[in-house]
Amino acid sequence: MEIGILGAGTMGAGIAQVAAQNGCEVVLVDQSQEMITKAEVSLDKVLSRLLEKGTLTEDEKINIQGRISYSTDMRDFKFAKLVIEAIVEKLDVKHKVFADLEKIVSNECVLASNTSSLSIASIGSVLQNPSRVIGIHFFNPAPLMPLVEIIPAVQTAEATLDFTKELIKSWKKVGVLCKDTPGFIVNRVARPFYGEALKIYEEGIADFATIDWAMTQIGGFRMGPFTLMDYIGNDVNYTVTESVFAAFYFDPRFKPSFTQKRHMEAGFYGRKSGRGFYSYSENVALPQPIENAELGQKIFNRILAMLINEAIDAVFLQIASKEDVDLAMTNGVNYPKGLLKWADEIGLNRILLQLEELFYEYGEDRYRPNPLLRRMVKEGTHFFK
Ligand code: NAI
Repeated sequence: MEIGILGAGTMGAGIAQVAAQNGCEVVLVDQSQEMITKAEVSLDKVLSRLLEKGTLTEDEKINIQGRISYSTDMRDFKFAKLVIEAIVEKLDVKHKVFADLEKIVSNECVLASNTSSLSIASIGSVLQNPSRVIGIHFFNPAPLMPLVEIIPAVQTAEATLDFTKELIKSWKKVGVLCKDTPGFIVNRVARPFYGEALKIYEEGIADFATIDWAMTQIGGFRMGPFTLMDYIGNDVNYTVTESVFAAFYFDPRFKPSFTQKRHMEAGFYGRKSGRGFYSYSENVALPQPIENAELGQKIFNRILAMLINEAIDAVFLQIASKEDVDLAMTNGVNYPKGLLKWADEIGLNRILLQLEELFYEYGEDRYRPNPLLRRMVKEGTHFFK
């Protein structure tokens, strides 16, 4: 099957690799010849490493590379069954590209976007046949992260969705179905991991290193929030937070943080700029956490309760099924456990109590316990047992 991928940046190049590794013929198009060359060189490096490790044979490497053709002309998508767009995150540019694409491809071709923050309904609105539009949202790096969020828009046909689900399964990815709402599953449910950590810092409860220590050593998360924000980039992470906040009509649960904004404004983006919440200069030692078990447990409990409340909200509003919400967080951002399974284990009544205490103490809407949580506690039900 022939797949077209538009945009040969970080995501497009990674998605091209996934498709080619799974036997698809890929046409990778970018407006910039430089990006095309970069993508081709970096794929060769990645595959050579896999060859050295023994994950790939020489023949497989040659076949994968042989299945990808590169171009700067979208007309080369003429025979594609699916085109995945992974260009700049700007609605007007995506609109132009989707309208142009439809004039090139066949009537049956599915047109997908890898957007993280724009609505699929809006992207598809420029099409003559909007029933072919769908969101296919990969995680970075696409060849390594198993999760793919599949997002049908209100216009999407059942056949478009079925085709997409089958294809993602055949690429051996974990596909989760998600409503066309801001942040989809992962970028919505994960907000408190950053937002609550920043708030705890701003209140002077603990410093960055101690909060990170609590989440990794007590919580079992692979990275603490501040290390992760530095890794993602404070510019990128802050922009996502701001856009989710606006998209939710300024719901206080998603309020961005001045601390992160100031770090962004100062150019303290994180690893890529040499300094973020931490300094990455060779001669600067990383700060040490205060390893106080009681404080650490308090920090972890508060952030986890907020994450669980958000996961429950996604189920309550039927953004995704409970199974898919848990799969999304373990496969898209490596959470040690699904948040709803975690909630069952801790006890929904304890989560509710924690949120009620926060709500009472702060009087802030951000801590309001989800109605589904209250209902389940009242009924004595659980998510999975
Ligand atoms: P990038 O900046 O690395 O690559 C974008 C590429 O698109 C560039 O090579 C650029 O030359 C090309 N491009 C821009 N306009 C074009 C046009 N009109 N026609 C052809 N090519 C064009 O961006 P990245 O990070 O790969 O993101 C791409 C998309 O994927 C965005 O929608 C982003 O929101 C989404 N995304 C990004 C993730 C990430 O972690 N970077 C994760 C998941 C989704």
